[in-house]
Amino acid sequence: MPPRDGAATTARPTGHGHDFHCYEPATGHGLRHNPMQAIIAPRPIGWISSASAAGVNNLAPYSFFNMFRATPPLIGFSSGGRKDSLRNVEETGRFVWNLATRSLATAMNLSSAVVPHEVDEFVLAGLTPMPSSFGSPPCVAESPVSFDCVLTQIVDLQDRHGQPSGSHLVIGEAVHVRIARSLIADGVYDTLASDPILRGGGTADYFHLTPDGHFRMERPD
Ligand SMILES: Cc1cc2nc3c(=O)[nH]c(=O)nc-3n(C[C@H](O)[C@H](O)[C@H](O)COP(=O)(O)O)c2cc1C
Repeated sequence: MPPRDGAATTARPTGHGHDFHCYEPATGHGLRHNPMQAIIAPRPIGWISSASAAGVNNLAPYSFFNMFRATPPLIGFSSGGRKDSLRNVEETGRFVWNLATRSLATAMNLSSAVVPHEVDEFVLAGLTPMPSSFGSPPCVAESPVSFDCVLTQIVDLQDRHGQPSGSHLVIGEAVHVRIARSLIADGVYDTLASDPILRGGGTADYFHLTPDGHFRMERPD
């Protein structure tokens, strides 16, 4: 199939048996779909609850999401454009991260609907808001794990020329953690049992964990 988005491959180094497709993202990938989000995948989901200063609850998934430090726990999500979650965190300085599990996948997806600021996605997705340690914003009562976070930084992401990229990285410190006791065995959190969903590439690809995908490897001394 011919490349769709312009961009031709440039040099095609071969080695270790690979025949590479090479491109410069600034001029297009030359494939049917942008592979970037399928390559940096699967990604954990930042299912973020927030509330406006006026007290309207909000819930939305962000897969440009991760933890950047364990102690203190710093987690962040990137808003492409100025979305309601970003606006709410700017207003209140708080957000809650909720674990999106396989059984909550449909609700998570419903909560991504692009709706006006006044619409409460908890209602839209049929979920129960439960007061967090802050009171507001609430956490998702159906989710087995959630972190109450205090905003530490909003980084307006730039391209290599120092120009605004249009995305805003919201980072917060988790100050209160809730874990369903059923996910803790002998003092160890059971990631597999928590059944998190992970975002793949394409418009609709997700993954979840299975026992045969698990392996262990200690770090070198
Ligand atoms: C699984 C999933 C991951 C998403 N990840 C992001 C993301 O990382 N950044 C983003 O800006 N939008 C992302 N979106 C889209 C937002 O969820 C969507 O725009 C939502 O309406 C934003 O809600 P808000 O305006 O209430 O914050 C994602 C959607 C889904 C379904």
